Amino acid sequence: MNLILLGPPGSGKGTQAEKISSDYDVPHISTGNILRHAIDQGTDLGLSAKKYMNEGKLVPDELVDEIVAERLSFLDCNRGFVLDGFPRDLTQAKALEGIRGIDTVFLVECPQQTLISRLSNRRECSSCGKIYHLLNNPPNREGFCDDCGNKLIQRADDQPQTIKKRLTTYEKETKPLIDYYGEERILVRLDGFQNPDTVYAEIKKYLP
Ligand code: AP5
Ligand code: MG
Repeated sequence: MNLILLGPPGSGKGTQAEKISSDYDVPHISTGNILRHAIDQGTDLGLSAKKYMNEGKLVPDELVDEIVAERLSFLDCNRGFVLDGFPRDLTQAKALEGIRGIDTVFLVECPQQTLISRLSNRRECSSCGKIYHLLNNPPNREGFCDDCGNKLIQRADDQPQTIKKRLTTYEKETKPLIDYYGEERILVRLDGFQNPDTVYAEIKKYLP
C-alpha cells in the first residue's frame, strides 16, 4: 500500500494521511512536518529550509529527495506508506520512481477561497502535530490538543501573503504531476470540499 496524497495547501492532505496511517498502520511521511521539525531543532537542514518555507517556495529538490530516500529505507515502510506533500514537482516524482513504486495517488481538490479560509483558521499541536480548525474542528479545550494536552500553534507559513505564494507555487510546480500520474492511470480525484469523513470514505474504496 504505497500511497501519495497530492493537492494544494489546505486541501486536507495531512488530515486524510493521519486517518489512513492510524487505520492501516502505515507511516505518514510528511516532508513539511519533517522540515518544520528540523527548523525547530535548529539543524543544518532546518536552517537551509526555513527561508524557502517562509516565502512559500519549494525547498530545493536535492535536500527533500535525500530526506525521503532515507525515510523510505526504514523498516516500517516495508508494508507501505502515505507520502503527504511529496513529490511536489516532476524532478521529485522521477527521483521517487527510482526508489519505490506507487499504487495510488489521491488528488484532493478544493476551491481556492476555501483553501485560504482553512489555512487561516488552522491550528496544530506543537507536540504530536494533530490538526485542528478553529471553526470546523476545534479542540475541546481552547488552545490545547485533545490527544496529548500540549499547546496548539499557528504555522509560520499560514500568514495571508505566504498562503498566496504557496498557492501560486502549487499551480506552477506541483500541478503538472496531475498529468504525470494521470497518464500512469494511478490518479484518483477526490472532492476535498466535502467533510473530512466523507473524503475518507471515498479514499477507503481504493484501499485493501
Ligand atoms: P506542507 O507542510 O506539505 O504544506 P502544504 O502542502 O502547503 O499543505 P498544508 O499542510 O498547508 O495543507 P494540508 O493539505 O495538509 O491540509 P490540512 O489537512 O492541514 O509544506 C509546507 C512547506 O514545506 C512548503 O510550502 C515547502 O516550502 C516545504 N515543502 C514541503 N514538502 C516539500 C517538498 N516535497 N519539496 C519542496 N518543499 C517542500 O488541512 C488544512 C485545514 O483545513 C485544517 O485546519 C483542517 O482541520 C481543515 N480541513 C481539512 N480537511 C477538511 C475538510 N474536508 N473540510 C473542512 N476542513 C478541513
Ligand atoms: Mg499538511
